[in-house]
Amino acid sequence: MKITINNKFLFNAKGMYTGILFLVLQSTTFGQVSPFQYSINKQATGKQGAVSSAHPLASEVGLDMLKQGGNAFDAAIATQLALAVVYPGAGNIGGGGFLVAHTTDGKSIAIDYRERAPGRATRDMYLDKEGNPLLNLSQHGHLASGVPGTVAGLFSTHKYAKLDFVKLIEPAIKLAEEGFVITASEARSLNGSAPSFIKYNTQTPVFVKSGGWKAGDTLIQKELAVTLKRIRDNGAKGFYEGETARLVVEEMKRGGGIINFEDLKKYEAAERAPVVFDYKGYTVIGMPMPSSGGLLMQQMMKMVEDRQIGTMGFHSPEAVQLMIEVERRAYADRAEFMGDKDFVKVPVKSLASDSYLKERMSDFIPGKATPSAMVKPGNLQAESDETTHLSVADRYGNAVSVTTTLNGGYGSKTVVGGAGFLLNNEMDDFSVKPGVPNMFGAVGKEANAIQPGKRMLSSMTPTIVLKKRKPWLVVGTPGGTTIPTSVFQTLLNIIEFKQSALDAVNNPKFHHQWLPDQVMVEQDFPKTLQQSLEAMGYKFTNRGQIGRTEVISITREGKKITAIEAVADKRGDDHASAY
Ligand code: GLY
Repeated sequence: MKITINNKFLFNAKGMYTGILFLVLQSTTFGQVSPFQYSINKQATGKQGAVSSAHPLASEVGLDMLKQGGNAFDAAIATQLALAVVYPGAGNIGGGGFLVAHTTDGKSIAIDYRERAPGRATRDMYLDKEGNPLLNLSQHGHLASGVPGTVAGLFSTHKYAKLDFVKLIEPAIKLAEEGFVITASEARSLNGSAPSFIKYNTQTPVFVKSGGWKAGDTLIQKELAVTLKRIRDNGAKGFYEGETARLVVEEMKRGGGIINFEDLKKYEAAERAPVVFDYKGYTVIGMPMPSSGGLLMQQMMKMVEDRQIGTMGFHSPEAVQLMIEVERRAYADRAEFMGDKDFVKVPVKSLASDSYLKERMSDFIPGKATPSAMVKPGNLQAESDETTHLSVADRYGNAVSVTTTLNGGYGSKTVVGGAGFLLNNEMDDFSVKPGVPNMFGAVGKEANAIQPGKRMLSSMTPTIVLKKRKPWLVVGTPGGTTIPTSVFQTLLNIIEFKQSALDAVNNPKFHHQWLPDQVMVEQDFPKTLQQSLEAMGYKFTNRGQIGRTEVISITREGKKITAIEAVADKRGDDHASAY
């Protein structure tokens, strides 16, 4: 039975989306929520558990797993799988991601399921004979894809979960098989990518609709449902071997890609030691290499720690200038030193040491911009746009922070024929040639050069902050190279500027990444503040929006959890759920 009831989008006085999407009534529900009738919440509070993600249906699927006795790891797995269906622009099984978690028994965990360069990848594969970069190939189509890691990551995560994997994947299968209604922004996004879907596919994918999509249309993905069933029935082998692998390799052959059976079979997720550092008595837990996110956070937070930024005031020219300058310096180091530690030596200890960071800020002049041309990567002592984030917390005290990505919106735009999932374009996160900017304008060098099997450097920054050794904040965002600066600003907004999680997420963000030497700002960044900073020598450029940050904050009385608040960013259809 399908009954169209209503379809309206509402905005409150602050311009925040509080819309209700009443569309079509059907029988399948996740908890209270139907894929054909759902609303978008930006804030939710409970005592038992909470999920915040880029899509209402994905958050509700995760919450439902918590209600059914699962823990935060169960919810994180089910939410990711649901995102792979309802949020095809970034949710994925054809991409990769990172998970940072803190368990109820006090363990900090980092799981790396970043994509890897195929075995036949070569250092100069995106250069023509004259050495000119061929960015179209690193960014679009079959050759742009790294070997996907998400499915391996989900199974690595599952050892911390409580429920059967079959239960966790079932909602995603249903959503793919029976469909769900799409919002106006999803319709716009799919329509905007239609020319690329046609160009970069050997078979027209389900994402292309003749006459275009509109809000309230139902997206059904039968082929994806069958692929998910193979994963349900055969585990990770249902993706990396057998029929799915055959379909990937066939797709590669049709479109000139290089991923082969061996690349898929060999893929493994890796559990790594997380980045852990202290900031004014709080413990910050982040993702290590091959993500630059955890180390950049450590560098930036430590460079401001002893500078009384809280007393300067939120969005004061003094505070913002200081933050821009620490961002500039940290990103200069990213370009020079950071890459996959399994392949290159990354001087992590030196880059994070107090003495190095003090030295790094020695040329900082309050009130005056330091041109990037004068900020070279630091001197070290020898030493031994599209991504998505979800935050989860449960009543047991587990906290899980996951950022996953296809890289650009809809990744390479290539859908595996017969398997219904999009492949990433993560190869562009390598440095295709020293000094040549990638799609985020980031430059890199030898540390991030292409090598077979290597993981490309990431900016993803899933983060957890502990207060008195217990999870307090679970934070992360998409946004390419703007990810670490968005997380940095969100944490300072809460810790130093005493903002609510909702304000910390929704307040305008800014970003500096060393090169290009400019401050990128959102449209609502205050103009008077911009003018004060321009007078100090900063150049500005507008950027549509920066990030879609999801925060969970946990309140305790003694050891007892008294509230778990989930907040979802105003910038998209992001949805907070809690009970
Ligand atoms: N693809 C974006 C990142 O990993 O940083």
